[in-house]
Amino acid sequence: MEINLKLDNVSLILGEGKLKLIHQINMTLEPGIHCLLGPNGSGKTLTNRMVSLIEKVTEGEIKLGDDKINPWSNDETKLQNIRKIGYMRQQPIFLNDNVKNNILLPLKLRKVSKENQIRKINMVLDDYELSDIAETNINELSVGQQQKVALARTMITEPEIVILDEPTNSLDMKNTRWFEDKIKLLIEKKSMIILWTSHDMNQVRRIAKYCSVIIEGEIRESGLVVNIFENAKDELVRAYLAGELI
Ligand SMILES: Nc1ncnc2c1ncn2[C@@H]1O[C@H](COP(=O)(O)OP(=O)(O)OP(=O)(O)O)[C@@H](O)[C@H]1O
Ligand SMILES: [Mg+2]
Repeated sequence: MEINLKLDNVSLILGEGKLKLIHQINMTLEPGIHCLLGPNGSGKTLTNRMVSLIEKVTEGEIKLGDDKINPWSNDETKLQNIRKIGYMRQQPIFLNDNVKNNILLPLKLRKVSKENQIRKINMVLDDYELSDIAETNINELSVGQQQKVALARTMITEPEIVILDEPTNSLDMKNTRWFEDKIKLLIEKKSMIILWTSHDMNQVRRIAKYCSVIIEGEIRESGLVVNIFENAKDELVRAYLAGELI
């Protein structure tokens, strides 16, 4: 049986003022793409940060199969689980270095042997159509090219869980479709749990069977995309999807 990722009554309190930003959210992610939607400032990135083990949950737990991954009990278990996760941030952080060394970074951090690094990087550069710019400094690339590098870097470790925070926001339609097709192809080859944050309802329809809508730190609906888009029960979700939520 394939394992799932479960957020069980998860809350997050942050900051000096001890602000409760995420309120007892529940979500179950099966292998495949699950989209996360919601207005600006609703808690999507914070949810991504909890699933990527950057933020420790304040209440509740996140489980991968039967294993509780967040809150973690010690740094060793956290590290073991972080290695199963690939996180492409809303604003990727790059080394001031060439494309190749940026993509290699997660392998270097994991102390993968030089031999395996070379084998992997050549495969990935080819696979992501980046061979021609392998030696180019990241700062000389367009944002669209940088997003491709960020995806290649996320995937080079073959993660079980992949978190994509608005990955195609700055891409044109051709590159957006390239990105979507790439992910679809990857999950055909290997089972992965993908949490994909998007503001684009057409994209969500194209890529995902399931989605969750978060508003003001609460998951207001979670389920089949068609049901939620056409028949949301929650009034705020209906307003958000209709572009009427202020
Ligand atoms: N470290 C922090 N300390 C205090 N408040 C925070 C912190 N990080 C985020 N917030 C607040 O939590 C709320 C949710 O932020 P988050 O970044 O998750 O929103 P988002 O849904 O990803 O929005 P966007 O669509 O603009 O990316 C915001 O009000 C934000 O100001
Ligand atoms: Mg965000």
